[in-house]
Amino acid sequence: MDFLIEKAIQAQKQALAIRSGYKVGAAVLDIRQQVFQGFNIEFCTQTSTIHAECAAVMNALLHGTHKPEIIALVVVVSDKKPWFPCGICRQVLSECNNNMKIIACNNTEEKIETKTALLYEIFPDAFTRE
Ligand code: THU
Ligand code: ZN
Repeated sequence: MDFLIEKAIQAQKQALAIRSGYKVGAAVLDIRQQVFQGFNIEFCTQTSTIHAECAAVMNALLHGTHKPEIIALVVVVSDKKPWFPCGICRQVLSECNNNMKIIACNNTEEKIETKTALLYEIFPDAFTRE
């Protein structure tokens, strides 16, 4: 998973957080061991913000990965502590694969802190098509 964390940190550097300054990077892994990155993008029209995790999912789908094939996601923030994806992202991710591994990282200090969960543990009883 270190490789996936590196990819998320790399993506975070490209974040376009023009309003909040809060840069978020993400990387998803699929069953073929392919990695797809994403970062948050803020616009003048505040409601148009794209979250890093959703951008990474979009990137994976664009390259032919099917939603259930996404098996892990790393999200990285420069903050005092790591944060799991927000509620909107949890819904999007759960509609891909509610079993995926979620690794949250922060990278403000020298030491990178991480916490891990399976998506259904942090997003139980998800709303589904069924
Ligand atoms: N953000 C994400 O990219 N992912 C999340 O799940 C939480 C929030 C972004 C949105 C906004 O650009 C910034 O973090 C501050 O909310
Ligand atoms: Zn989000």
